[in-house]
Amino acid sequence: MKAAVTTKAGNPDVIEIQERPKPEIKEGWVLIKIKAFGLNRSEIFTRQGHSPNVAFPRTQGIECVGEIEEDPSGTYKTDQKVAAIMGGLGRDFDGGYAEFAAVPLEIVFAFESDLPWNVLGAIPEMFQTVSGSLNGALEIKEGETLLIRGGTSSIGMLACQLAKTKGLTVISTTRNPEKEIHLKENGADYALLDDGNINTKLKSLFPKGVDKVLELIGIETLKDSLQCIRPKGIVCMTGILGGSWTMNEFTPMDDIPSLGRLTVYMVDAANLQKDLLQEFIDAVAEGKINLNIDKTFKLDQISEAHCYMESNKAKGKIVVEI
Ligand SMILES: NC(=O)c1ccc[n+]([C@@H]2O[C@H](COP(=O)([O-])OP(=O)(O)OC[C@H]3O[C@@H](n4cnc5c(N)ncnc54)[C@H](OP(=O)(O)O)[C@@H]3O)[C@@H](O)[C@H]2O)c1
Repeated sequence: MKAAVTTKAGNPDVIEIQERPKPEIKEGWVLIKIKAFGLNRSEIFTRQGHSPNVAFPRTQGIECVGEIEEDPSGTYKTDQKVAAIMGGLGRDFDGGYAEFAAVPLEIVFAFESDLPWNVLGAIPEMFQTVSGSLNGALEIKEGETLLIRGGTSSIGMLACQLAKTKGLTVISTTRNPEKEIHLKENGADYALLDDGNINTKLKSLFPKGVDKVLELIGIETLKDSLQCIRPKGIVCMTGILGGSWTMNEFTPMDDIPSLGRLTVYMVDAANLQKDLLQEFIDAVAEGKINLNIDKTFKLDQISEAHCYMESNKAKGKIVVEI
């Protein structure tokens, strides 16, 4: 099979297209014929060598969609459409940047859909992240106000749409004035230009602060986001678009406003919402959700796709179709 192998830590050109044997299936695993996969920011960090547990060479890709090629357990019939996500995929064992992947049954999600593969490929990680952050961590409710920090990211754009379908008022941010229009077209009630310090601007719109904040930039803007919430408001840090994992100085009694709440969301195999995936795919098929797919690449364009993601020019999800 063809696989895009990250040969060592480095720039996008360390990913090489190679002929590899099809992965072997262990007991309790299935073989998926991959049709498409979404590209994720964490894969840039891994490629750069910032994921200490990932050894190279490695076929990356933390998610994929495709069809069951072989399932010795008999759980799924051949050609069943499935998604696979996280659980070590593309990190502990070879992942989605290939024509086939062997994965444990626990991370397989069956679905039915006639949507094109590049659309399906955009869904699994993006949906789980947004749904887990908004419903699981922030517990959003109709009538609330939601600030999305890093609003033009694919996660931010989808979060805005899901929040609007639930009846929230959404304020979404970008650093780029030219992208404000895209935030509005995507459904945001307010688009704010983010220079890293927006709490004064935000409080001029919502003097008591907002109910919820989805923080996708991370450490760089987290303290400012905490200043944007009302008492008992919640900030959920889900992303690290700013690129930093660790905050040098954090003084909880100063940095978290009284009664304010800070949480995080991380997709992992244990908190995946299997039943909601089909519901979401159907909502996309019915046109209730617009996925904002920015560009679809081919497998042998994977280095180009990584460069494009790093350029921050995309206004939505980047997908690779096999
Ligand atoms: N917790 C989880 O389980 C989980 C799962 C999936 C993804 N994530 C995280 O969610 C975040 C969003 O992922 P994504 O794939 O949706 O991203 P994406 O689509 O690649 O986001 C691109 C946008 O991010 C903004 N951005 C880039 N660098 C930035 C910086 N230094 N400071 C501020 N904004 C910056 C840019 O927006 P502007 O130019 O418009 O400002 C850019 O257009 C990432 O941090 C990702 O790692 C977390």
